[in-house]
This record gives sequence, structure tokens and C-alpha cells, in this order.
Amino acid sequence: MESKGRGRAIGIVKITLFLIIFCAAVNCVYSQVTDSLSLCLLQTSCTACLEASSRCAWCSDWEYTNTSIGKPRCSTAKSLQDLGCPESAMQVAVTEKIEFSQNEEFRDVTAGKIPVQLRPQKVQLKLRPHSTQVLNLQFRPAKNYPIDLYYLMDLTWSMKDDKDTLVSLGGKLATTLGTFTDNYRVGFGSYADKPLMPYVFPGHEQNPCQSEHATCAPLYAFRHHMRLTGDIQEFVRKVNESSVTGNVDNLEGGLDGVVQAVVCADQVGWAHQARKLMLVATDGFLHFAGDGKLGGAVRRNDLQCHLNADGEYSMSTTYDYPSLAEVSRILLDHKVNVIFAVTQDRRSEYERIATILEEKARVATLAGNSSNILEIVERAYHDIVSKVVLRDNSTGPFALEYSSKCGNFSGPELKTSQCDGIKEGQIYDFKVSFSLGSCPQNKSLWRQKVVIQDALASEASQTEIEIELMCGCDCGKQDDTYCNQGVNECGLCKCDAGWSGETCDCRESTGDSINSQCINTGENVPCSNRGDCICGSCSCDPGYSGRFCQCSPCDKVNGTECGEMGTCDCGSCVCRPGWTGDTCQCPVGDALCIAPGSKEVCGGHGYCDCGQCRCNGTAPDGFFYRGTFCESSAGAGGSGLCDLYEPCVNATVEAPSDAVNLCRTNVTVYKTEQVSKVDIASDHYCFVRTYTSDSSVCTIPYVYEFNKDNTVTLSIGEKICRTPLPAAVVPGVAFFLVVLLGIIALLIWKCCTALKDKREYARFEEEQKHTVYALEENPLFRPATTRFRVPSMIKED
Ligand SMILES: *[C@@H]1O[C@H](CO)[C@@H](O)[C@H](O)[C@H]1NC(C)=O
Ligand SMILES: *[C@@H]1O[C@H](CO)[C@@H](O)[C@H](O)[C@H]1NC(C)=O
Ligand SMILES: *[C@@H]1O[C@H](CO)[C@@H](O)[C@H](O)[C@H]1NC(C)=O
Ligand SMILES: *[C@@H]1O[C@H](CO)[C@@H](O)[C@H](O)[C@H]1NC(C)=O
Ligand SMILES: *[C@@H]1O[C@H](CO)[C@@H](O)[C@H](O)[C@H]1NC(C)=O
Ligand SMILES: *[C@@H]1O[C@H](CO)[C@@H](O)[C@H](O)[C@H]1NC(C)=O
Ligand SMILES: *[C@@H]1O[C@H](CO)[C@@H](O)[C@H](O)[C@H]1NC(C)=O
Ligand SMILES: *[C@@H]1O[C@H](CO)[C@@H](O)[C@H](O)[C@H]1NC(C)=O
Ligand SMILES: *[C@@H]1O[C@H](CO)[C@@H](O)[C@H](O)[C@H]1NC(C)=O
Ligand SMILES: *[C@@H]1O[C@H](CO)[C@@H](O)[C@H](O)[C@H]1NC(C)=O
Repeated sequence: MESKGRGRAIGIVKITLFLIIFCAAVNCVYSQVTDSLSLCLLQTSCTACLEASSRCAWCSDWEYTNTSIGKPRCSTAKSLQDLGCPESAMQVAVTEKIEFSQNEEFRDVTAGKIPVQLRPQKVQLKLRPHSTQVLNLQFRPAKNYPIDLYYLMDLTWSMKDDKDTLVSLGGKLATTLGTFTDNYRVGFGSYADKPLMPYVFPGHEQNPCQSEHATCAPLYAFRHHMRLTGDIQEFVRKVNESSVTGNVDNLEGGLDGVVQAVVCADQVGWAHQARKLMLVATDGFLHFAGDGKLGGAVRRNDLQCHLNADGEYSMSTTYDYPSLAEVSRILLDHKVNVIFAVTQDRRSEYERIATILEEKARVATLAGNSSNILEIVERAYHDIVSKVVLRDNSTGPFALEYSSKCGNFSGPELKTSQCDGIKEGQIYDFKVSFSLGSCPQNKSLWRQKVVIQDALASEASQTEIEIELMCGCDCGKQDDTYCNQGVNECGLCKCDAGWSGETCDCRESTGDSINSQCINTGENVPCSNRGDCICGSCSCDPGYSGRFCQCSPCDKVNGTECGEMGTCDCGSCVCRPGWTGDTCQCPVGDALCIAPGSKEVCGGHGYCDCGQCRCNGTAPDGFFYRGTFCESSAGAGGSGLCDLYEPCVNATVEAPSDAVNLCRTNVTVYKTEQVSKVDIASDHYCFVRTYTSDSSVCTIPYVYEFNKDNTVTLSIGEKICRTPLPAAVVPGVAFFLVVLLGIIALLIWKCCTALKDKREYARFEEEQKHTVYALEENPLFRPATTRFRVPSMIKED
């Protein structure tokens, strides 16, 4: 550790020196040093150098540099060459690659040959840290795939009639299987329950049906009657020969039977490469792990085969019933698919069991007398062959992700490892991406094998991937004579414990503390008071670094300085290309600030800061915007992105065939869904107006929602249409109203005047009554003569 710390300190001084000299010499502009170059220059060991970036290279030649020469050991290959690093000593990052070492053509099942359903079969993959590689896999279901059908029957008393049905349908079973494939085989086994109290009455072991006043065979847990064979007549005979037995409770030991039939592969004769199908026909329920304790079978099921010479499960009274988790694992390991053919009243219980057993089990409803058993076999076979489920056994440190179009070339790429409804003979493409973060410390993980296989089919369909992580640095044999008490590791000495120095010549215990060499210019304490001076170099306290421990630690993200995306350089982070920020937490560029489908950064109402939109207080239009992409504004009338999604929403509803094109850009795909109710109060509420040929106006309401992966989901409500009044009606009604109002006004005026006249007339009458005129004098009469009086005096002034 000590020598490593020192090596780093020296490295940084070297780099600084180098940059000054180099820049002065070639008149370089510091800003031209690209991100990746500055990242390379920081690295102080070959391993770190090659892992930092694929563009970094390391010079392992001893003569090339030392503290007094001060050239960087980690840089781009070109600049190392220019600085005089010999070609043979240059360690360059191995480029990643995918190589197919076995890629046979797809093959259907033919006699004696293993079918090929997955391509390629063997892959060599070299994966660099901080990168992703995509492997293209192809799957084609083989025709004529062999099928092994093991018929496991509950042979308790109530299933007596089912047995008879099976015997009578035997011949048809052959025909049914023959329609799927020429290579079928059937086997037969039966189960009842553990021959123990309380599953059987004491004294009734030899004839458990005594209580039914009948005779039946002694109780047994599981009996394997017939190996898998192509001879259906034999199967029918064996079924006919088998005899029913009985037990007390309505719970049966079916899981004992399932486990024995699966693990006793030799006796049952499961073929290595066949679709293995086990049909469990029953009308009862199951005993689970723990129930065995009642009868004294207390030991945990060892999941081993225990069949005796008669094909009977011999240890049933010793071992408990298996648990569902154990059964699930066995089915997965042995790739056996189970169909529980159960009567209608048991169906819901078995469906819950099938859920726990995941894709390996399914449930079918058995008619009362098993008459529909052939349909069940047929349906189950199609269920299994119409589905592909890819599984891998990777345990990290890299991550695997699957995607496929599942045979729909116009459809979207789905993040799934399973496809339904597959057809025989068609090819299905899968993309498997492998991504690695940083290199694991444990070297045993650097090379490993991962197997991808079809979880439902046989072992024959698999892809083996040999993964080599491009971690570490192998410089080959180095000349150790330079390092007195240590070894030469890629041009640097790695000192034995207790020794340090560039050539490991300083014993740390007696190490003369040449304090002067540990004191930074402008200071007077060695190692900035943050470490000890040993052999003329500083051993810094945890966190500090630099030749004089002058560098503080960088900010940490999740416990790592500068996070995954950068490296600490004397207190500040140097980020990998594409990242920026104090702790390299921000992606460079505006990609994350552009709403899906939009072209504007933050809708033109803000700016992008560390991959997030900061909306400006006031946008140019004077309104205040908010939202993930500054898209909403109360002032500007709600959502600003309605225009963007309108064509997609309209097409989804009106012309679904155009939707594929309108609901995507070359960068993103809009996800659409139908909802019954659209939240009108949402900031993201929009609607599309359309006009139909019969002149109704339709409104399609929708709400958009941004997803984490920078896509958008459009929740589209139901279209609502309304027919407006015919065009002529509106003015007509208006005209009519105006006329009506006019008439009413006229009438009112008329009434008013009439009333007034009447009142005037009445008053006139009244007045006339009271007025008494002199008879000789007509009130209207004016005398024709007018008399004037001459004034008597005229004032004479
Ligand atoms: C550095 O290398 C040069 C040339 O190989 C040598 O002369 C010099 O002594 C070395 N300096 C140190 C400090 O080892
Ligand atoms: C099974 O029962 C149905 C009616 O429940 C009957 O129609 C059918 O013939 C029976 N099948 C056999 C093989 O007994
Ligand atoms: C079944 O066995 C009985 C005798 O146990 C026999 O009579 C009958 O013919 C057999 N049925 C078939 C289909 O083999
Ligand atoms: C995956 O399975 C293969 C073959 O069964 C085995 O060689 C390999 O080690 C397994 N890989 C892991 C990571 O368990
Ligand atoms: C293919 O995908 C498109 C878009 O999701 C869908 O409309 C179409 O029905 C799919 N075709 C088939 C055959 O599944
Ligand atoms: C490295 O991993 C292997 C396998 O995962 C494990 O057996 C071993 O103990 C690990 N070694 C260390 C040092 O962690
Ligand atoms: C920290 O680690 C957690 C879990 O690995 C991850 O979800 C989270 O994004 C990380 N935080 C940062 C800032 O990288
Ligand atoms: C938002 O503010 C930033 C900085 O305050 C400014 O650079 C930018 O031009 C503004 N953008 C808009 C759309 O007003
Ligand atoms: C909606 O789609 C229909 C059919 O493609 C088209 O006639 C109509 O103009 C579209 N309406 C809008 C508002 O885009
Ligand atoms: C998407 O298409 C536009 C033109 O329609 C083009 O300018 C742009 O570069 C494309 N973007 C990508 C990522 O291909």
C-alpha cells in the first residue's frame, strides 16, 4: 500500500511536469486535450489505465520514464509512440468483440441427430468495463420435436372410472400424439398416498377399500408401471392391469409421485432431448411438506430416486412430502412440464400451485370420467410448443437484458425473454445485451461461462457464451533487476512489504526521513501535515493524495470518489467522455431535457442543467412554465405539448394503420393506451378535435405522461361526438325571434296607448259632467270685437 500511494504521488508530479514541458514544446492548447486523454493521464497503474478508456495505452518499458524524465506512462497509443515508447512495451486496451465459435444451421429432428433450435451455439465475448455488447440470437422451433409423455394417475378409489376411460381412449391417444410428431413415447405411473396412519385406517392397509365394501390393492405412495415407450398397446395394457387402491383423507401424495417420476430418469427413461410432459390426472388435493409428520415420515425429502425392483417408491414412509419450492426447482432442473388435469371443483386450488411452479406447470379441467383427456394433451402440447422462454444462469457482475420483436417485424421491440404464439419453422430474433460497470476485484470472475437456453425445451437447445472481461493488465515477464526489494510490474516497482522508493531501495522502518523532500514549496511542515514522510516521500493519511498530500479527497457518490463516471484528480473530478458536473453526475448534452418527440430543449421555456430542465421565471411570452420539460403553464392555457402528440392520438383512434408511423420519431416511440376516464384537471390534459363527414364534431381527450426512460405514454379516452344544429336553423330561429319580439313590443305599445286614450276620455267625460256652461255662452265662442282703453294721461317728459 505504501509503495502504491507513493507511486501515485510520483505519477501525478510526472504528469504535471510533463504537461508543462509537452505543452510548451509542441505549443499545444490545453483545452485541446480531449476528455479521454486527460482521463488516461490520471491513471497510475497499467490496470487502471486500460480500464479507464479503450483509447488509453500504457508503456511498460522501464527505460521509458522515471521521476526525473517525467513522461506519462498512460496516454493514447499515438502520444506514447511519439514520446518514444517502444512498440513491444506498449500495452493497449484489447478491443471488445463477439465471435461465434460454433454456429450450426437450424436442424429439425431427424433420426440420431440432435435438433438445433438456437443460433449461434457457442460464442466468445470480450467485454470492456463501462460498456455494453449486444449479442443477436436466433431461435427457430424445430419440426417433429420428440415428445415424452408420462401419464401419472391418481389411482385412488374415486378415479376408477377414469382408468376405464383411459383404457378405452388408448388407441386415440396414439393418433392424437401422432399428429404433432412422429417421435412420441408414453409412460405410465400411479400414486395414492403414504401407507401410514392416518392416511389409511389401521388394519385396512391390505384392502383400504374395506370401508367402501369393495376390494382394492394395498395402499402405496407411487408406482412406476411402465417405462416411456412408443408402444401404445403396451400402455393400454398396463393401464388396464393397474389396480385402484384407496386412502382415508381426500388429500393425496401426488408430489411424492411427481418427484420420483422426474428424478428417476433411468427407470422412467426420459430422453435427453425431448419435450418432457407429465400429465397428472387427479380429483383430489395434495399433501405438502410438513404433512408427513402426522404419519411419522419426518425426514426432509431428499429428492433422490428410491424405486425398488417393483417400481415402487420404497422410502415413502421415511421421507416427508416435498415442498412446492423443491418441486419447482426439480422441474426446472430436469425441464419437465407438468399439467395438472383436475376436476372442476379442484381447479382454483391447483391454479395457485401452478402459479408457484411458474412456467413449468399449467392446469386443465378434467371431465368427470376423463373423457376429455385427449383434448387436454393436445392443448398442453400446443401451449408448450407455442412459447419460447429464454433463461440464463448468469450471476454477474455484468447484467443481461433481453429484447425481441417476437416475430412481429412491424411491432415494437419488447424488453422480454419470452414470446408467445410462436410458429414452427419461423425464426425469432432476440437481442441480448451484456453490460459491465466497473471491473470486479475477484479475478475468478474475469472469465466465465454463461449458458442461455430455452427453458421449456430440452438441453439440446442452448447457447454457450464464454465471457472474458477485459480487466487487468498482462505485461508478461518483466526484468526485476531494477527493483531491489520488489518486482517490476509493467514498468513500475511493486515493493515488498517494508520497502519503498522508486526502486524499492529504502527500508521503511529505518527509512531516513529526508524531511526536506517531503515539504511542499511555501510550506514548512512535511506532507502538509496530512501524512508521514518515509524515505523522502509522503505516506498520506486516508483520503489525501499527491506528492505532498496536498490534494483533498473528491466528493463521493455512493461511496466512490467521483462516482462511476469519473476519476479524482487532486480534489476535483475528471469525468469520462459524456459526463460532467462536480461529481461527474451530469450527462453532457441536452438529450434528457428534450421532451419525447420534441425538438426544443425544455420546450423553449428554460434551460438544461445536469440533465434536468430549469424553467425560466418568465418565458419570452411572459408566462410562467413548469413541469419536467417546462411544458405546462396555467397562463398559456395548460399543456404546451398537445400539438406534438395530436397526430398520434388522432391516428390511434381514427386510422390505426397510420399510428405506427405517427406514434414515433427516429428517437422515441410513443406508447398509447386506452383508458375509460381521462383526468381533465391534469396539467397534461389535451384533446383532439375532429370533424366527420356527417358534420359532427368529435373530441378525443387524452393525457400524456413522461416515463423514466425518456418515453411518453398517451392515455387516450373515449371519443365523444356531437352533431350541431343544421346551418340554416340558427339564423332562422334568430330571425323568428326578432320578429316575435317586434310584434310583442308593438302589442305592448298598442295596449299602452289604448289604455291611456281610454283614461283620458274617461277624465274628459268626468270633467264634462261637472262643468256647467252658461247656455248663451259657448265656451269656444270668442267675441269678434276687441275693446282697447286709451290711457287717460300721458307723461310729458
Ligand atoms: C531515470 O532514468 C535515467 C535514464 O535511464 C537515469 O539516468 C536516471 O538516473 C533515472 N533517475 C532516477 C531517479 O531513477
Ligand atoms: C363421460 O361422461 C359423459 C357425460 O358425463 C358421457 O357423455 C361420455 O360418454 C362418457 N365417456 C366415457 C368414455 O365414458
Ligand atoms: C382389461 O382387462 C380385462 C381383464 O382384467 C380384460 O377383460 C379386458 O379385455 C381388458 N381390456 C383391454 C382394453 O385390454
Ligand atoms: C452456467 O451453466 C454452465 C453449464 O451448466 C456452467 O458451465 C457455468 O459455469 C454456469 N455459469 C454460471 C455463472 O453459473
Ligand atoms: C404487430 O405489432 C403491431 C403494433 O404493435 C400490432 O398492431 C399488430 O397487431 C402486431 N401484429 C401481429 C401479427 O401480432
Ligand atoms: C472469487 O469468486 C469465487 C467464485 O465466485 C469464490 O469462490 C472466491 O471465494 C472469490 N474469491 C475472493 C477472494 O473473493
Ligand atoms: C447509488 O446507488 C443506488 C443503488 O445502486 C442507485 O440506485 C443510485 O442511482 C446511485 N446514486 C447515484 C447518484 O449514482
Ligand atoms: C432562460 O434563462 C437562461 C439563464 O438565465 C438564459 O440563458 C436562457 O436564454 C433563458 N431561456 C429562455 C427561453 O428565456
Ligand atoms: C384525424 O385523422 C383523420 C383520418 O386520418 C383525418 O381525416 C383528420 O384530418 C385528422 N384530424 C386531425 C385533427 O388531425
Ligand atoms: C431524426 O430525423 C431528423 C430529420 O427528420 C434528423 O434531422 C435527425 O438527425 C434524426 N435524428 C436521429 C437521431 O437520427
